[in-house]
Amino acid sequence: MSVQSHYENHLAAFYAWMSGNFETKQQEQQEWFASRGVLPRGNKTAIDLGAGHGLQSVSLAKLGFTVFAVDFNQHLLSDLNARAKGLPIRTVLANLKDVPQYATEAELITCMGDTLTHLENIETVQTLIGQWFDLLPAGGRLALSFRDLTEELFGEQRFIPIRADDDRIHTCFLEYAPGYVRVYDQLLEKSNGEWIQKVSSYRKLRMGADFVKEMLTGAGFRVVQHDVIARMQYLLAEK
Ligand SMILES: C[S@@+](CC[C@H](N)C(=O)[O-])C[C@H]1O[C@@H](n2cnc3c(N)ncnc32)[C@H](O)[C@@H]1O
Repeated sequence: MSVQSHYENHLAAFYAWMSGNFETKQQEQQEWFASRGVLPRGNKTAIDLGAGHGLQSVSLAKLGFTVFAVDFNQHLLSDLNARAKGLPIRTVLANLKDVPQYATEAELITCMGDTLTHLENIETVQTLIGQWFDLLPAGGRLALSFRDLTEELFGEQRFIPIRADDDRIHTCFLEYAPGYVRVYDQLLEKSNGEWIQKVSSYRKLRMGADFVKEMLTGAGFRVVQHDVIARMQYLLAEK
């Protein structure tokens, strides 16, 4: 199952529910941007890659950016559009690997919420970091957030409860391999009083923050901020 079909056939339908309260999560993202000085200071344009249902796009728009929200999943972009009413956000249905599809003059590129680990391999991440560097003007910034999955979990630690209510239970199961983790998203959903199970899986890359920092500096960026929030690595780099 490719990442794209995993989202199309499984995860997109319950992604917003799984993520929890949108306003709370969006506010957390907005606070990180504001506290780290990620505010408009150039052409006020941002490209948000793997935008999903809009946690970063909405935050950036509220902070004064005009946002191009790029994602290959139409369901999630439709969710985002429904939330973006009145905000300067334009959605772009595209694969983030296809840079010419979204290349525009922008002072900020974001790829957050663990989207980076969805890419096939390290070489793709490295190539893209180089292409994003070329796209940005001097002083332009790149913000990344992702999970460091380099440390292996064992046994029952690999069952991760994500969210549950009266009608749905979502659990992740992790299977470790060299270089990647296979993530199984198990959804139990109540239908006519019966629990129906749906399971699908995809691969996530295992990359440490130091390794991503090396890729950033190798491409010419200066890493200006590194935070770890709720086990998510946040990196801010400047050209
Ligand atoms: C884990 S979600 C993160 C969404 C959002 N940034 C957040 O923090 O909630 C990953 C998103 O990236 C999108 N995605 C993954 N790989 C992609 C690719 N190659 N091109 C475009 N979108 C991609 C998925 O459709 C999904 O919306």
